[in-house]
Amino acid sequence: MMKKTNTKKNNNRRIKSVMMTIVVLLAVQPLSAESWKKLKDDRLHDPEAPALEVLQEPTEALSVLPPGGSAGNKVDWAKALRDDYIQPRAQIDKDAKLEQLDTNILFKETGDQPYVLFPHKTHTEWLECSNCHEKIFKTKAGETPVTMLGILSGEYCGVCHGAVAFPLTDCIRCHSVPIDQAGKFQ
Ligand code: HEC
Ligand code: HEC
Ligand code: HEC
Repeated sequence: MMKKTNTKKNNNRRIKSVMMTIVVLLAVQPLSAESWKKLKDDRLHDPEAPALEVLQEPTEALSVLPPGGSAGNKVDWAKALRDDYIQPRAQIDKDAKLEQLDTNILFKETGDQPYVLFPHKTHTEWLECSNCHEKIFKTKAGETPVTMLGILSGEYCGVCHGAVAFPLTDCIRCHSVPIDQAGKFQ
């Protein structure tokens, strides 16, 4: 009987001390430092590679940029560009000037998922037209046979999304227009 109570007490004490440790860890550890893996642990880089010593750690590089949810590299890149955190080059030829276009394309072959809103604005803030026309997309709405399977296989939007832009698991960032609210975007 005695023994049982002692074990219980010990267990309670142990649980309390674990809880305290977690509380202390959460308090001292900024969230951002926890959310990016070190290069040596990311299972993409060779942990033995000498280059790891000269590469910047993601936490150091990305924690200063506007946060963008929990997917991908957790940065809101569109905001980072708008707020002047970064000044990327629109294409290899540095003298090419960037033309901006502020039109939306609404994709409606989405089954029971919300419609997909493609904003030219965000894209042409980054990318010169020839990155997409006519290699990836026709220059006429509804002419490109875009499907989700194609996207998941790295075609259409998937040339960039899931590779260099936010990942395909972020469904609602593309499927952002509820079917009954399509009127606003047409
Ligand atoms: C990068 C943008 C993007 C992301 C992210 C995305 N989709 Fe799509 N999805 C599209 C586009 C574009 C279409 C094609 C619509 C059209 O042709 O009218 C589409 C089509 C679809 C369709 C219709 C059937 C088909 O095969 O074309 C379904 C269902 C779908 N998506 C589900 C999803 C789900 C679930 C996710 C998240 C796991 C997702 N999508 C993520 C852009 C995206
Ligand atoms: C990131 C890719 C991307 C970039 C960059 C891009 N577009 Fe587009 N554009 C699209 C997509 C997607 C469509 C729709 C194609 C479809 O539905 O088949 C489209 C359609 C169009 C259309 C037809 C619209 C309509 O209503 O029929 C025009 C015009 C156009 N783009 C012009 C431009 C110009 C000019 C630029 C550069 C300033 C540009 N686009 C940059 C992806 C892009
Ligand atoms: C040539 C590369 C490229 C292609 C192709 C492309 N995107 Fe993007 N997209 C980007 C980049 C770069 C960004 C900005 C970085 C980010 O948000 O990850 C972006 C951002 C976005 C955003 C966020 C807009 C915002 O203001 O936050 C949406 C939505 C989007 N793309 C949808 C699509 C859809 C739908 C397609 C296909 C019809 C598509 N994109 C095709 C490169 C591309």
